[in-house]
Amino acid sequence: MSNIREAAYMIAAILFIVGVMRLRNPATARTGNILAAVGMLIAVVFTVIGASVGNLVLLIVVFVVGAVIGTYSSRAVKMTAMPQMVAAFNGMGGGAAAMIALSEALQALSHGSYPGLSQAIPGLFDMLVGSISFSGSIIAFLKLQEWMPGKAISFKGQNAVNAVLLIVLVLLAISILIVPSGDRLALDWILIIGSVILGVSFVVPVGGADMPVIIALLNAFTGIAAAAAGFVLQNDVLIVAGALVGSSGTILTLIMSRAMNRSIFNVLFSAFGSKVTATGTSEHGEIHPTNSEEVAMLCAYAQRVVIVPGYGLAVARAQQECKDLMDVLTARGVDVRFAIHPVAGRMPGHMNVLLAEANVPYDRLYDMDDINPEFQRTDVVLVIGANDVVNPDARENPGSPIYGMPILNVDQAKTVIVNKRSMAAGFAGIDNPMFFKQNTKMFFGDAKGALQSLLSAIKEEVA
Ligand code: TAP
Repeated sequence: MSNIREAAYMIAAILFIVGVMRLRNPATARTGNILAAVGMLIAVVFTVIGASVGNLVLLIVVFVVGAVIGTYSSRAVKMTAMPQMVAAFNGMGGGAAAMIALSEALQALSHGSYPGLSQAIPGLFDMLVGSISFSGSIIAFLKLQEWMPGKAISFKGQNAVNAVLLIVLVLLAISILIVPSGDRLALDWILIIGSVILGVSFVVPVGGADMPVIIALLNAFTGIAAAAAGFVLQNDVLIVAGALVGSSGTILTLIMSRAMNRSIFNVLFSAFGSKVTATGTSEHGEIHPTNSEEVAMLCAYAQRVVIVPGYGLAVARAQQECKDLMDVLTARGVDVRFAIHPVAGRMPGHMNVLLAEANVPYDRLYDMDDINPEFQRTDVVLVIGANDVVNPDARENPGSPIYGMPILNVDQAKTVIVNKRSMAAGFAGIDNPMFFKQNTKMFFGDAKGALQSLLSAIKEEVA
């Protein structure tokens, strides 16, 4: 049986790797997800049937409850609430890794022995990292769900306090390892509780706009903790799955920090969200409001239109209207492209997923580096619910909190139409001087309604 199980684990590991590889392209991502899920099913089934799992009834009840919660929440979740769902699930993974290590230590102690070094080291690592990931993810969830203030909450010397706490916990773990003690279980619990406290104080000072980055980092923590749990349980497939999550979480963290031109150190320790102001008002001058009729005329007679989707498009769920607009304009011979900023929206690939839902062809989507040189040759840019990713302060104002973040240079186009509901700030909480420029027209309204009225106006214009 053990050979069959090892073979099944190998197949599961291959499915995970192929699944992750297929996630790199929107066209293959769906099958990649399915392959990885099949791999997980194989891993779980062969773990259960091949080992002595104790109370089978309890196990089945837990599986059913977990499957119902997972299925319901993933079907019910709004696309814009995806980051907090990832945070919540991630926290469960970290907590589970810590509990696995605790239960293995408990089992060894109940037989009057201490776990051997090859299990004790990853076990203590699990208690530390898994617990940090658990409580940090819960705080991230609460912030994103707006059940606690989303801003960075910090106090003087916070980084030093966190550093001291981390050192104390590492020393505690080492002392548990080298000085076997009758109080081993109590010390394990102290390690776990201390790590939970560290997870809270590690994430609380991270500000709103940096939350998705911290979630990717916590994801990496959970992956590494899961891999360590694989060593504790001597389960190869858990080691592979954990390593994949750990490495992809790390890569994602670095990509997101780079896209905001921030170092990961700056994201973690600068309390970014506490320093920005959200005024929505400006000393930049007058705005130039417009209406659907004027926008229809500009778009219908343009040679090239670039649509820039942002977070507001996701909120309004106006992706189908975007696609309809593309179809109507393309039928008139207008060259329509979509410009995708790597951190538009609230999660990596957010805009790609939305536009794929509406069947916008992938070859119409242009990355920032490919589209930026094209703006000078563009007649109309239609910014739909985007703000920070088109803020020229990131390019021109060294005093701006987002200075240095690469942006879409939409202000270089002949005319920029900005659709949003008000003059409110975006996620970074700062003004956008582009809204006041001569070549910018503000097209106010909810994205869905605004695009619908624009579509009707274009049809009337060309009738
Ligand atoms: P934001 O800068 O957040 O701006 C979104 C704009 O959409 C707001 O100004 C809002 O203005 C408007 N809006 C909201 N609901 C709307 C609706 N129903 N219809 C029309 N407009 C609506 O978005 P962005 O430009 O996509 O930038 C993303 C931000 O998130 C960046 O700061 C980025 O650094 C941060 N972030 C993203 C990620 C990832 S991975 N995507 C990760 C970390 C951080 P009104 O309220 O006036 O309508």
